[in-house]
Amino acid sequence: MKTILVIDDEQSVRDSLRMILEYEKYAVDCAENGEQGLTVLDRQPVGVVLLDVKMAGMDGIEVLGKIRQKMPNLPVVMISGHGTIETAVEATKLGAFDFLSKPLDRDKLLVTVRNALQQAALSEEFQRLQARVEGQRRILGNSRKIREVLDIVDRVAPTDARVLITGENGTGKELVARAIHRASKRAARPFIEVNCAAIPADLIESELFGHEKGSFTGAVAQRIGKFEQADGATLFLDEVGDMSLQAQAKVLRALEEGKLERVGGNRLIPVDVRVLAATNKDLNEEIAKGSFRKDLYHRLSVIPIHVAPLRERRDDIPLLVDAFVEEVCSRNGMAKKTITPEVLETLGCREWPGNVRELRNAVERLIILSPGTTMDARVLDAFSSGSTEDAGLLDGGGTFQEFKERAEAAYIRRQLELHRWNISRTAEALDIQRSHLYTKMKRYGLMKEGAEEDADRAE
Ligand SMILES: Nc1ncnc2c1ncn2[C@@H]1O[C@H](COP(=O)(O)OP(=O)(O)OP(=O)(O)O)[C@@H](O)[C@H]1O
Ligand SMILES: [Mg+2]
Repeated sequence: MKTILVIDDEQSVRDSLRMILEYEKYAVDCAENGEQGLTVLDRQPVGVVLLDVKMAGMDGIEVLGKIRQKMPNLPVVMISGHGTIETAVEATKLGAFDFLSKPLDRDKLLVTVRNALQQAALSEEFQRLQARVEGQRRILGNSRKIREVLDIVDRVAPTDARVLITGENGTGKELVARAIHRASKRAARPFIEVNCAAIPADLIESELFGHEKGSFTGAVAQRIGKFEQADGATLFLDEVGDMSLQAQAKVLRALEEGKLERVGGNRLIPVDVRVLAATNKDLNEEIAKGSFRKDLYHRLSVIPIHVAPLRERRDDIPLLVDAFVEEVCSRNGMAKKTITPEVLETLGCREWPGNVRELRNAVERLIILSPGTTMDARVLDAFSSGSTEDAGLLDGGGTFQEFKERAEAAYIRRQLELHRWNISRTAEALDIQRSHLYTKMKRYGLMKEGAEEDADRAE
């Protein structure tokens, strides 16, 4: 059991606290000043601190500050003497759990200690769960390409440098952004995410910068935008290549000046935001087309990170498959299924146009649909897209790029047919954004008769 640490310069107070608490079977350790108390904390696990407000040398408030810095989750209960109650109340605002006043009331003391220990246990449990969630967001892979990515992540994370993460859909761009945030000085602050492709062009400014009440029809209340929410923290501009030119101009200004203006507002608000951005587009191509600002590109891509498609780092597949099997089985309360070398081989050879996300979905389906405790390659064939069988796909000639596009088009067409051209469901099955699916359909001219209108509207 964890110790209760008493820090008080009065011998009689230490003695009586020790007596009461030890009688209740708590382990107690005493220190007669702040310095001594802090040394005890370094040495052994402590469950709660009882801390005198007024002491010679370092006073209670100062010690509280040091403890909060070192162990933000350790509950500290202030003990106030006559004349220091106000300070004790003040201390609760600085993060003290509660305060007790002298002369100490035995029952109040015991209730407070119990509550403090309970709270500490809860926050520990919360952190454990959080660590588990974060663990599932780890970037797995041992290929040279992934190790290079992890290496840059390690080096840029502690700085405030802006990072532009590029790569195809499902390669793990968001994972990289989160890893950077997690290893940064801002880790304790939020990771604020904006999906620029999912927000209609006319709303993106207000989403990013907020608006004042009444600034436009529908602005019924003031709204704080993502940039402001990310003050002191990290802002992740996902699918940044899909941002309108108008919004780009505003983002550029905010980055240049470190200040923003809410829509309909009339003052500049200073913000300290670290921006990470990601896109699956080739921004140089977009710049050439005039749909992305070159100056913004330079601002965003101080450190560029490219995440390679899965087919260029196939040696990561076994590791990823193993982790996904483990995760899916445990999430579904199943014993871990075995992957036969045959299945692994099949998985290792595929093209994976949807990259790691597609692999993960395939593994999940394999597990759910395979009878017994081993995974069955036949299941894999049963849900295979069959795209390679499409006439002319393999021997259509042309460059590798052209082949990939044909394969992608065939795959999407197949999925659209399977879902009766229902865009939402197809996008869900492919695990991509609706807007992204529309773009692809338009690019490949995938259109069901009479469906043109629909697709146009979504542009
Ligand atoms: N290296 C990896 N290790 C473990 N999981 C990964 C890895 N890369 C991707 N994933 C998983 O694949 C899925 C897709 O990853 P993520 O969302 O980061 O990709 P993305 O590049 O942002 O995709 P999109 O462009 O479609 O938004 C997630 O479930 C993620 O956890
Ligand atoms: Mg993403």
